[in-house]
Amino acid sequence: EGEDGLRSMRGRVDELCAQVKGSSAQIVDLLTPQADWRIDTTRRLQRLTRDTTNEVQAVMQLHDLYPTTIPLPTLGGWALQAKSMVRILQAVAVTKNDPLVVECGSGASTVWIGALLRERGGGKLISLEHDERFYDETRQMVVDHGLEQFVEVRLAPLRPLSLEGRDFEWYAIEALEDVEGINFVLVDGPPQATGKEARYPAMPVLLGKLARHAEIFVDDAERPDESAIIDRWLADFKLTLSVQPATRMAHILYDGGVRGSV
Ligand SMILES: C[S@@+](CC[C@H](N)C(=O)[O-])C[C@H]1O[C@@H](n2cnc3c(N)ncnc32)[C@H](O)[C@@H]1O
Repeated sequence: EGEDGLRSMRGRVDELCAQVKGSSAQIVDLLTPQADWRIDTTRRLQRLTRDTTNEVQAVMQLHDLYPTTIPLPTLGGWALQAKSMVRILQAVAVTKNDPLVVECGSGASTVWIGALLRERGGGKLISLEHDERFYDETRQMVVDHGLEQFVEVRLAPLRPLSLEGRDFEWYAIEALEDVEGINFVLVDGPPQATGKEARYPAMPVLLGKLARHAEIFVDDAERPDESAIIDRWLADFKLTLSVQPATRMAHILYDGGVRGSV
């Protein structure tokens, strides 16, 4: 009888052990996603803090650059991030000769680049704008800041453009007819909503107009559409992707190898 009692107790203990094991596995299953989520959130917060610090530093650097009586337009949001703007201005500022800059998509960056060219005392920015309202707005800012000598905003409505069997809506290319020897390109339009890989035509259209060692900046490079565009450009044209620290903008170098245009 004593032995039977012991056996049934042993059975019960085994059952309980199995239950405990099952429960702890369930608890681990329950906690793991929470732990992953917590690690992910901590990483995101650390990145946000670092990015915000960089942005504040970039804004301070930018506002130290130019003496202005009218405040320069704010960056971020729909416009370039301040640290991307700093990166472009750094590149343009150190060129020996007067640079020719072409910008796809006008706005705050137009005024900042114009202000740098005025400070350098030479160079030209041609800014393409598809939207009449923003064309008027940007042009007004250029006038308000007295930058007409250095900046030309060109109205270039989006038009159908076929490239190797693919259809796009891109800036009316007549707006670029007289343009030659571009040193810098800022690809920040057309807006994503205007079509799939909307910014792809920039390279095939502008390639034949680039100066040797031109530099191309592509904003929003982390978006799937833009990274697909950049991959395609790197495969199709003789370009090099440079390492771009701490901005969401890609920096591409053209060494003057292959030439071609639409
Ligand atoms: C990505 S935004 C960038 C414009 C510019 N490169 C910049 O960084 O300031 C591209 C388009 O936004 C539109 N845009 C211009 N000014 C704007 C404003 N104040 N608010 C919203 N969109 C604007 C224009 O049509 C422009 O081509």
